[in-house]
Amino acid sequence: MNNVNAVILAAGDGTRMKSDVPKVLHRLFGKPLLGHVMQTLSRAGITQPYVVCGYRSELVEEYVGGNGICCRQEERLGTADAVWQVRNEPKLQEKDSHLIVICGDTPLITEATLRTLMERHFSQANDCTFLTAVTSNPIGYGRISRNPNQQVVRIVEDQDADVYERAIEEINAGLYVFRCDELFSAIENIKPENSKKEYYLTDVIEIFHRKGLKIGTVESTVPEEITGINSRQGLARAYDVLRYRVLDRLMESGVTVLDPGSTHIADDVEISRDTTIYPFTMIENDVVIGAGCSIGPFCHIRPGCRIGPNTAIGNFAEINRTVIGPGSRVKHQSYLGDTELGAGVNIGAGAIVANYDGKKKHRTLIGEKAFIGSGSIIVAPARIGRSAMTGAGAVVTKNRDVPENTVVVGIPAKELRKKEEGENAG
Ligand code: UD1
Ligand code: MG
Repeated sequence: MNNVNAVILAAGDGTRMKSDVPKVLHRLFGKPLLGHVMQTLSRAGITQPYVVCGYRSELVEEYVGGNGICCRQEERLGTADAVWQVRNEPKLQEKDSHLIVICGDTPLITEATLRTLMERHFSQANDCTFLTAVTSNPIGYGRISRNPNQQVVRIVEDQDADVYERAIEEINAGLYVFRCDELFSAIENIKPENSKKEYYLTDVIEIFHRKGLKIGTVESTVPEEITGINSRQGLARAYDVLRYRVLDRLMESGVTVLDPGSTHIADDVEISRDTTIYPFTMIENDVVIGAGCSIGPFCHIRPGCRIGPNTAIGNFAEINRTVIGPGSRVKHQSYLGDTELGAGVNIGAGAIVANYDGKKKHRTLIGEKAFIGSGSIIVAPARIGRSAMTGAGAVVTKNRDVPENTVVVGIPAKELRKKEEGENAG
């Protein structure tokens, strides 16, 4: 196993966000930008990254908690100065220690790219390996300057580039792996002699080249992944990139998504094959949906739901922390919270499980083949037996236990009769 750690540069204030919150804590697709970068690192096997924070660092430190090691950069003197903050960390002093440098505002970098970068770095025994991209719109990025042998000679920042350098379309994505000893010895020699008067991390490259150290590059093949977030517009565009990545994964695994443009599904959601997602559906994190289901249009499935195969969740249904048994149907304008449905249950139009009494949330169990009539309200906690039935508009009051095969009606719901042997619901 190689000795590799990571540092996330996250001291910037993100002026263009026009916000009281540090840029890296802005939320994107369910978690802060920094959370995405930390997740990508951890999926690639790098845990406990160093996080360099500056602007409102207490908030960043609180978010990172025990999942990383925060270092404060007192003054924002540039990316090299940011990396310099971790120079005394014992793990980085070890012999043959390597350091990944990644920005906290690049949440779209993929695990695969990070793995490729590391793989290339170690298999080629490089002293530095960094990510590049080729783009027809390189404005704002550092440009890669190569010699006739195609060796990287230096990175020149946009503001400091001359007219020829500005025309270079190969750019620095801002993701690197360095040999630690050479990195820190190079940073010591960097001077803030540039248009921004900052200590540029990118100046390390020229120092490495002059010293004859081995520099490698990996070209990004994932569209958009190198984009940094600088504005609210950037946040919205990044949300769309992540959203489509999830939808692509689901469609590739055999899920039909009729209208990707209006479908919002969190990245950890699992859906089995031959399920169809109709337009205007929102599915939040921690949800598992079985095969052959029909979901939507216009439905909202919230965290903690487990939806069995061959079920139908229809128009204006909201389902929260709820288990739905195989073949059950919740087709029209319902709310189910903290509820467990057996197999083959039918929830009628407009039926509601009232799970919150103003203080606490309570659970409701609805047995298999139960039939909940239109407009019924079930006040939790409650238990509806198997094949029981509630009449239209019935209110099943708190702590009620409706026995199996029983029909209840009215407000409060009272037993009307027992169902006959073999009598169907409805
Ligand atoms: C940097 C690179 C540029 C590259 C681009 C890719 C340098 C000098 N330039 O430029 O070659 O094309 O990223 O996105 O590195 N930060 C700190 N402390 C500081 C300064 C910055 O923590 O003192 C953090 C920022 O919060 C940000 C990251 O470092 O997360 C990058 O800084 P930024 O100012 O955005 O650099 P760029 O101009 O984008
Ligand atoms: Mg930037």
